[in-house]
Amino acid sequence: MTGKTRKARLLAVLLCLLLCLSACSVPQQQAAPAPEEDLVMVGFSQVGAESDWRLANTQSMLSAFSAENGYRLTILEANQEPRNQITAIRRFINENVDYIVLAPTEEGGWETVLSEAKEAGIPVIIVDRMISINPDLGIDAESLFTCWVGSDFRKEGDTAVAWMEETFGDRPLNIVHLQGNLGSSAQLGRTEGLDTGLAAHENWTLAFRASGEFTLARGQELIEQVLADNLLADPASGVVNVIYSENDNMSYGAINALKNAGLRPGEDVFIISFDAARTALQLILSGEISYDVECNPLHGPRVRALIEQLRQGKTPPKYTYVEETAFSKENLTESLIQNRGY
Ligand code: AHR
Repeated sequence: MTGKTRKARLLAVLLCLLLCLSACSVPQQQAAPAPEEDLVMVGFSQVGAESDWRLANTQSMLSAFSAENGYRLTILEANQEPRNQITAIRRFINENVDYIVLAPTEEGGWETVLSEAKEAGIPVIIVDRMISINPDLGIDAESLFTCWVGSDFRKEGDTAVAWMEETFGDRPLNIVHLQGNLGSSAQLGRTEGLDTGLAAHENWTLAFRASGEFTLARGQELIEQVLADNLLADPASGVVNVIYSENDNMSYGAINALKNAGLRPGEDVFIISFDAARTALQLILSGEISYDVECNPLHGPRVRALIEQLRQGKTPPKYTYVEETAFSKENLTESLIQNRGY
């Protein structure tokens, strides 16, 4: 064999090797996202960014509705203003998105804009909180949305109240109530739970109630006001001080205010919270929050599963309630907290 032929053979073998290698590497590559025009367009009208819960919820939607999964997601945050959500939904209708996902700020006020979406033939999926339609309008509320997924907020309130009954028994309670945004399902359900407890217990007194709008800053301000107005009982009197805080961020604010005033959360004042985010669970272990009722924000995959059923021509369930639990020191471990999704 001449030197030239040897070289030519060597080159051919190298070429073959290269071709094999590139062919072998194809299956390991990530599937290319679908072309832009094939993506399913989803418009998500989000409440805002008021809490850790809300941030986790937005993140969950972003991951579930990625381009790799075949979606183009537009999120419009409403800064907790219902009228911003109405504008957002109208924009989605104008853009002719395939699906509208609505996380309603308040329950009321959706008749007109959801009728417009219905008229445009765009399915609406409601997530987290619920809507309510004024019965005087004679509109079939259920015809305005395709399906809903979220939490049973009334049950969450009842769970918190059952723990208060069990933990404090006949002792007199001095209750400070930090409410979420008034008119939101999360506020309404959790407040109804407490009101039922108050009506059933003569030894429970409501010392203060106001909306902390689900934010740390407002929660802190309200507890500063409670302290300035001397609304907490002297712990030495035998009366138990309880802060019933309708979300974790307001509880963080309450803890700041109590500690700044030299009070000990978990000893002078017991905090009952909602959401059960990772930071709050740490605060249970350190004793500053006594009880936390879970409200799960990881709705992205749930909403996507509903939309996928619709795309396959199936009829998803009208209502899907998420299974939730509650935490105290007794059922918490460090590893549970580390593995928490939010
Ligand atoms: O609707 C769910 C509530 O909204 C969460 O409890 C709160 O943290 C959020 O802002």
